[in-house]
Amino acid sequence: MSAFPIAKSAAAMQSVISNWRKNSAKIVLIPTMGALHEGHLAHLSYARARAERVVVSVFVNPTQFAPHEDFDRYPRNVESDACKLQSAGGADLIYAPSAAEIYPDGIRSKLMLDGPAHGLESDFRPHFFGGVATVVEKLFRHVTPDFATFGEKDYQQLLVVKRLVRELDMKIEILAVPIVREVDGLALSSRNAYLSTEERKIAPSLFSTLKQIAARIRAGHDIAQGEAEGNAALLAAGFDRVDYCAVRDAETLRTVRELNVPSRILAAAWLGKTRLIDNLAV
Ligand code: PAJ
Repeated sequence: MSAFPIAKSAAAMQSVISNWRKNSAKIVLIPTMGALHEGHLAHLSYARARAERVVVSVFVNPTQFAPHEDFDRYPRNVESDACKLQSAGGADLIYAPSAAEIYPDGIRSKLMLDGPAHGLESDFRPHFFGGVATVVEKLFRHVTPDFATFGEKDYQQLLVVKRLVRELDMKIEILAVPIVREVDGLALSSRNAYLSTEERKIAPSLFSTLKQIAARIRAGHDIAQGEAEGNAALLAAGFDRVDYCAVRDAETLRTVRELNVPSRILAAAWLGKTRLIDNLAV
């Protein structure tokens, strides 16, 4: 049992929050899809550093999955998530709404996303940022937080959310949380649980390849050539398919061909049926 409440409806969640607001408490939201791991739990300390009250939302958002993706098999266990949060120091509230709560009439209205939403993930998961933006905006409207944390693990998502907040004049400060990794470098992800023993051995080469290519580019190597080498190195390491391995402007995600702006190398690659993503500052 957790020592903090799990609200399954917006009304239940809002009645807790309105009491906090009476004491002028600042609120931070950590949006998640559950199946919490140390990468998620690391957000707690960034959250606590800025606000008195921490809300963790747990919602496997159907609109960010395409019909052929892993929505049905995505791991779900709110009680176990609550225990993990408890042992990591605790949150003040879990908001775990049902799909009917978030999408009572389905969803037809869509936000038009531009800028960092173009390319990379969108080329391979065209539905993805539309779904993320819809649910994040709804969660923001439900919870009305002062801050929200987003992980650099999903670097493009972080930039898309920052842009959304700025352009829609939401008074929410987005806090970026660095990537938490396994000792062998693999970025923690709920999807790592899908990997077979054999795939798990190959998985860390996603990060080591990005590190290698980033170092080469920092040392003056041609960027386009570095990207092609990264692609080839991932296939050689045993990845079945590489969606992208690209160096981009760290703020706008525009293509860069010279290292004259802060840049980031980002990659997505498949091991069997599992798609892994990672990124690193160049
Ligand atoms: P989810 O994949 O559950 O991730 C929730 C948050 O944890 C995201 O901000 C993500 O970037 C962060 N995160 C995941 N792995 C991390 C790691 N290894 N280190 C640091 N942070 C990590 O991202 C989503 O859910 C959804 O798209 C969501 C924003 C909740 C909208 O549905």
